[in-house]
Amino acid sequence: MSKIFISPSILSADFANLERDIKLVENAGADWLHVDVMDGHFVPNITIGVPVVSSIRKVTGMTLDVHLMIENPEKYIGAFAKAGADILTFHYEAVKDVKEIMYLIKSYGIKTGMSIKPKTAPDVVFPYLKDLDLLLVMTVEPGFGGQKFMPDCAEKIPLIKEKAPENLVIQVDGGINAETARICTSYGANSLVAGNYIYKSDDIKSAIKSLL
Ligand code: DX5
Ligand code: ZN
Repeated sequence: MSKIFISPSILSADFANLERDIKLVENAGADWLHVDVMDGHFVPNITIGVPVVSSIRKVTGMTLDVHLMIENPEKYIGAFAKAGADILTFHYEAVKDVKEIMYLIKSYGIKTGMSIKPKTAPDVVFPYLKDLDLLLVMTVEPGFGGQKFMPDCAEKIPLIKEKAPENLVIQVDGGINAETARICTSYGANSLVAGNYIYKSDDIKSAIKSLL
């Protein structure tokens, strides 16, 4: 079985104790750290910006998996790359020229991700799969942690998997717990983002393990 990359979302962490909460998931064996960037335009919420990513970079060697839920991502890609993002994922719905954004991310020598919202059809991503490192299938409407998993969204995974090169990471994000993780991995997802399920559990290590 191929490796499953667990990416705890710090949106559910305590922002006043961010370093402590990052260490909690790092010590519990998580591979990646999911950083949700929201601008109050593409989504109705405002969260983390470049300075926070740069501070996080100083306290952890984990892979920084940065999810840009922002309009005009081209304006900020350079800054997030320089701040230490390892993977930058933009939204298909937020850009006019997908290829231009992909090549901009690549020009910084980091991994390129693209995401689709629940109402976006899976076939729109097919032309880009061979040039992406990661494809994120949202399983909730982006904007907030703690929402309920939408099973219909997970049904896009096998359709994308069928067209994807072997090395493409297929990630899911939103409402992931032990049960919904199983559904997604059985469809072919190999990276799981989880916020509330990990951070609101009493035993973070077991929570992470239960997703595998
Ligand atoms: C939602 C974010 C998610 C969020 C997931 O827009 O992209 O990463 O933190 O939170 P849970 O796992 O609680 O649904
Ligand atoms: Zn996210």
